[in-house]
Amino acid sequence: MTTMVVVASKHGSTAEIGERIASTLHARGVKAYVKDVGEAGRWLYETDNVIVGMPVYRQKLLGEGTLFLEANRTELAGKPLFLFAVGGAEKLEKKLLDELARFPHREVAYFRGAVDQEKLSFFEKLQLTVAQAPKDADFRDWPAIEDWAHSLLSYGVS
Ligand SMILES: Cc1cc2nc3c(=O)[nH]c(=O)nc-3n(C[C@H](O)[C@H](O)[C@H](O)COP(=O)(O)O)c2cc1C
Repeated sequence: MTTMVVVASKHGSTAEIGERIASTLHARGVKAYVKDVGEAGRWLYETDNVIVGMPVYRQKLLGEGTLFLEANRTELAGKPLFLFAVGGAEKLEKKLLDELARFPHREVAYFRGAVDQEKLSFFEKLQLTVAQAPKDADFRDWPAIEDWAHSLLSYGVS
């Protein structure tokens, strides 16, 4: 059985969460690997379980993530699907949770992410200034991320 962790990530923090989920599963004997959303489609046919993660930008889920779920609805049908969103806010807005939940899934999780100002464009820094949000912060709760990965074993991810 194989598990693919698909990550849509603009600046890398969601990808690192995906890597941690895969390595946590791997340590429990699961054949788990990470693919960027841009190339994940062609690996779907040979994976049993799929985990998809995407960040929130400007109150929206990153389009590459939801587009992947839309575009691969047929291929994903019948495969256990687990979803996670990543954002700077303490909680995921209900409308975004609802948007994710419309894809047939076993679990939806939300993790706080990270911002690194060296990676941000001028406009992104401006947006964060206007929103009075930090430009350099790492809110990732690695034990919670690992706990979630472990919890997937109870769904038969093996
Ligand atoms: C320009 C910008 C806008 C953002 N907008 C939101 C937002 O609306 N809501 C939120 O919870 N987090 C927001 N964030 C925080 C990101 O979701 C967080 O930094 C996430 O970890 C980024 O993931 P990535 O590194 O994989 O791209 C924003 C970050 C940036 C840089």
